[in-house]
Amino acid sequence: EVVEFSVRDSGNGVPDEMIERIYEAFYSTKSEGMGIGLKLCRSIVESHHGRMQVHNIYNGEEVVGCCFSFWIPVVSRLKVGDASTGPATEPVTDTERAR
Ligand SMILES: Nc1ncnc2c1ncn2[C@@H]1O[C@H](COP(=O)(O)OP(=O)(O)OP(=O)(O)O)[C@@H](O)[C@H]1O
Ligand SMILES: [Mg+2]
Repeated sequence: EVVEFSVRDSGNGVPDEMIERIYEAFYSTKSEGMGIGLKLCRSIVESHHGRMQVHNIYNGEEVVGCCFSFWIPVVSRLKVGDASTGPATEPVTDTERAR
């Protein structure tokens, strides 16, 4: 079970040979780009046990944009407390436990 988010644009797409590189820190083809945006996005998604990907959108053979997506698992709700006496507190999420 995952939640998925995706966004499409109508730009030039990402050339196949660049698809792995675009997530590298400081990789940028923009004159003023830092090359941090996608690295940061992917790090955040993966820290939530998710995955991120991009694919190009075609009109026939022509690339007419691309679509970035990420999905993260729905957090299972854990019971806290002694199993013999039942839950001692309200269920908490993995994120709440980590805090
Ligand atoms: N929607 C897109 N369409 C085509 N290429 C893209 C797209 N988004 C990113 N890229 C390519 O991936 C590279 C890395 O993107 P990233 O967002 O990490 O850095 P940046 O946009 O160059 O700089 P910044 O750190 O300001 O975000 C871009 O320089 C560009 O070459
Ligand atoms: Mg960017």
